[in-house]
Amino acid sequence: MSATGLDVEAVRKDFPALDRVVHGDRPLVYLDSAATSQKPRSVLDAMTDYYEHHNANVHRGVHVLAEEATAAYEGARDSVAGFIGAPSRREVVFTKNSTEAINLVANVLAWAEPRHRVGPGDEIVITEMEHHSNLVPWQLLAQRTGARLRWMGITDDGRLDLADLDRVITARTKVVSFVHVSNILGTLNPVQAVRERAHEVGALVILDASQSVPQLPVDVGALGVDAVAFTGHKMCGPTGIGVLWMREEVLSELPPFLGGGEMIESVSMDSATYADLPHRFEAGTPPIAEAVGLRAAVEYLSTLGMANVAAHEQAVTAYALELLSEVPTLRIIGPSQPVDRGGAVSFTVEGIHPHDVGQVLDSLGVAVRVGHHCARPVCQRFGVPATTRASFYLYSTTAEVDALVAGLHRVLGYFRR
Ligand code: ALA
Repeated sequence: MSATGLDVEAVRKDFPALDRVVHGDRPLVYLDSAATSQKPRSVLDAMTDYYEHHNANVHRGVHVLAEEATAAYEGARDSVAGFIGAPSRREVVFTKNSTEAINLVANVLAWAEPRHRVGPGDEIVITEMEHHSNLVPWQLLAQRTGARLRWMGITDDGRLDLADLDRVITARTKVVSFVHVSNILGTLNPVQAVRERAHEVGALVILDASQSVPQLPVDVGALGVDAVAFTGHKMCGPTGIGVLWMREEVLSELPPFLGGGEMIESVSMDSATYADLPHRFEAGTPPIAEAVGLRAAVEYLSTLGMANVAAHEQAVTAYALELLSEVPTLRIIGPSQPVDRGGAVSFTVEGIHPHDVGQVLDSLGVAVRVGHHCARPVCQRFGVPATTRASFYLYSTTAEVDALVAGLHRVLGYFRR
């Protein structure tokens, strides 16, 4: 057991992929969990068990398997609602991923009732550190409605620049959508300050929690925002399922996004009425096995305790920041101190392209991500074409950080010879 309450060696045994060797006999050092986490055996088993014994479509059949599949799918909704402190399961909508959750909101606001509708002259506020999934949907909404897109900037040390808060969020602001923990900078944003200003002007507040729900205890009630988007595959769950949580008072007033089966109450040739929450927003056969997997992931994380997960990740990140700061010519892009930050650490190495850094590290078994990390404006802000990003999770160890740093010294030796 570590000082953070997490027995990382025991945790690692739960994740079959962490036993991999790559490039012959090199143990895998997986430092790409911000892109997607590895999956514990319990998630894999739950999904296999579902397909082997309970597979059927949901909400439709009267037979045993259909009832079991429906119970499994709706049970997953209960688990997710509990995990994020949602006051009601009706507020939990399953989507394909965070991207779809944000697109859902960004689309329906174009034809919502006047109170929430975004139209000409209205303003949408985001930040310069958004993942493209919380940028492009709002660009599209602005282009299609005549609204204006505005954003808050980033300070030199990778924090959200709040100096302009009152100037950027104004009486014209209809929506403020921002990232909780940046996938590229690692920054943990001050939700309360932004939310208070946004609510002062009557704007809806949407939080992209793709990186935070996997890492931190998240309670949607305590956050006080109107909607939260996150994805299963970054939190030990499968790909293909994400979550939109939205306060019932708002969600119940929004029109449907995708039309089709499952989301209707009654249909005739020229009109339809829609199902109650949350099914109104879940058209078509939903990701049933994925919901089963997500439930297993939520149960796995809950058993470990999210406070322990967060403390472990913070300890490993603090260790990494300290060691990386000693690597010659390495520049951390994002907060260099382990305060109010998550487990993604981006950096550049002077004169060596991130793709070369990543390739040498990979040859040593160290898996990192290189590129703009779907947050290209951040790279532009810091004047770099791309970064190398190491990201840590509940199974990451300080020995893996040592392997990363040793690899970076190999990179330096190789390119500086
Ligand atoms: N959003 C994922 C990442 O940051 C894909 O790598």
